[in-house]
Amino acid sequence: VTDEPQLIMLPGPTNVPPRVMRAMSKPIINHRGPEFREMFRRVTGNLQYVFETKNDVITLTSSGTGGVECAISNILTKGEKIIIPVNGVFSGRVRDTINVYDGTPIEIPVEWGDAVTPEKIEEALKREKDVRAVTIVYNETATGVTTRCLKEVGEICEKYNALFIVDAISILGGDKLPVDEWKIDMCITGAQKSLMTPPGLAFVSVSPKAWSIIQKSKRRFYFDLPACRKFLADDETPYTPALPLIYALDEALQMIKEEGLEPRYRRHKVCADALYAGLEAMKLNLYAKKKVRSNVVIAVNNPSGITDKDIHKRMLEKYRISIAGGMGKLKNTMFRFGVMGMVNPANIVQTLNALECTLSDLGYKMDLGSGVSAARDVFTREKML
Ligand SMILES: Cc1ncc(COP(=O)(O)O)c(C=O)c1O
Repeated sequence: VTDEPQLIMLPGPTNVPPRVMRAMSKPIINHRGPEFREMFRRVTGNLQYVFETKNDVITLTSSGTGGVECAISNILTKGEKIIIPVNGVFSGRVRDTINVYDGTPIEIPVEWGDAVTPEKIEEALKREKDVRAVTIVYNETATGVTTRCLKEVGEICEKYNALFIVDAISILGGDKLPVDEWKIDMCITGAQKSLMTPPGLAFVSVSPKAWSIIQKSKRRFYFDLPACRKFLADDETPYTPALPLIYALDEALQMIKEEGLEPRYRRHKVCADALYAGLEAMKLNLYAKKKVRSNVVIAVNNPSGITDKDIHKRMLEKYRISIAGGMGKLKNTMFRFGVMGMVNPANIVQTLNALECTLSDLGYKMDLGSGVSAARDVFTREKML
């Protein structure tokens, strides 16, 4: 590892603003003292602002997977059914988590590159009866697909008295997600993606309806949500929190508030639109169906005869830009970009420029400059350049 900076265009972790990095070098304080409590109260309030919720938001010292495990393990009693549409690696992991905790996953298979429809969810709820919860991965990071029908699904869950659980790990903070308006009972996210904080923290929002179920389930020790709630009442965590990460999060959330949610979502969308336009101008094939394309993760099929390994090696070594490959059955078939956190037009132009050079170097036939030019048109039209 060198300290020469890279442009991180991964679907997490993402670039962290210098202001947020600097916050982590503050002195360690007592996590049971007044200074911590004041900061943690502010952090929790600002998390509620980003989640757009009045529900409790619990901060966990873990990566995002811990947040998903925490939500599932706290509501599940042996044998209970949870509906999970699977359209990629991360929704597959939610299904596996339900299995590990002795639940019965009701899988709705969905073509990868596409998203589930509300009709399919309602069909499953009608057929199965007594379903404890419906879980949806809002943004399937492995395929670059956003499931846009959460509002409808929230209403359906209310009608069938099922909890609504959303894995929003790669998207919360980068696209619209009003937790209360969409009737989401548990919403999970991680620090290291659209919240532009270093990795190591996960967050779970919990509605009163979810709390009433949690009281009845047999829970695990570290991820015990009622224990978290008890300590949260005093602005504390049950166990030692990752203090430098909380400092960083505090700063990142203040930056998010300064920007405002709507302008932030618009910035992500215009950056994603510009990147899509550039990739299409370069005649590359996008993996996700157009109607479900994500504003925060973009997946591109490898051009024939060129491997994603060669692409990201060259992008990193020659141009200092870090991008990701495919996952699961899509390994060795695609490359992926994150458009998250502090992303801006300069990052997109730089990335497209480097990608054009990289692909040309690797023998791909295209008009050099076509990608950058298409992206520039989008930014100009949207008055962002
Ligand atoms: C949608 C989704 N769920 C879960 C995870 C797992 O998060 P972590 O790697 O932080 O444990 C990720 C990470 O990429 C994700 O994108």
